[in-house]
Amino acid sequence: MAEGLFITLEGIDGVGKSTQAQLLVEYFTEKGCNVVHTFEPGGTKLGQSIRRMLLDPENQQLAPVTEILLYAADRAQHVAEVIQPALAQGKVVVCERYIDSSVAYQGYGLGLSVDMIAAVNKLATDGLEPNLTICLDAEPETALARVGGDRIEKRALSYYERVRAGFLSIAAQNPQRVIVVSAEGLETEVAQRVQRSVVGRLAQ
Ligand code: TYD
Repeated sequence: MAEGLFITLEGIDGVGKSTQAQLLVEYFTEKGCNVVHTFEPGGTKLGQSIRRMLLDPENQQLAPVTEILLYAADRAQHVAEVIQPALAQGKVVVCERYIDSSVAYQGYGLGLSVDMIAAVNKLATDGLEPNLTICLDAEPETALARVGGDRIEKRALSYYERVRAGFLSIAAQNPQRVIVVSAEGLETEVAQRVQRSVVGRLAQ
């Protein structure tokens, strides 16, 4: 089976993941690679329904464990339907958010067991891990100023501080996979940092 390249972008809401993912896709496309740009939650048709449930401001009563299982269900479908088939065809997959988001938001943010989240996600993804993760990092105040107000974004600033700390500790625990890139400054500057990090790591 041919092996592709699986790259994820992570970070708190408003750090500019979508823009940077798009620029990375353009970079790989120009290099002649076959690239798939995808995201979670909602990277499949079924996932779009799950995404609506998760982000609906009316679902304030969602139990934390329900939340983790819905994200994992979205991810399971996404891996089976989009990510794994693309990797099997040797493609580059650029994915906005993956397991690290569940660990950071539901684990560090909501206080659910990180071991439980890891176990649920191992089942959901059949153990598929990214080759490389770019963690875009910014102060919650800066990042949140860019986004509106769905259910999750309405949570308190202290929640986003815990989530950010979560991403940074995931990066510290997985230095061979995760690179932290500052998301502060101009989009073009951030893009240069991202590209340099990716190229540098792939050359190793
Ligand atoms: P996303 O569409 O990436 O939002 P944004 O573009 O604003 O960053 O993700 C939607 C929300 O879902 C976001 O607040 C992060 C949250 N989320 C989790 O809490 N756990 C997860 O496992 C994932 C994938 C996302």
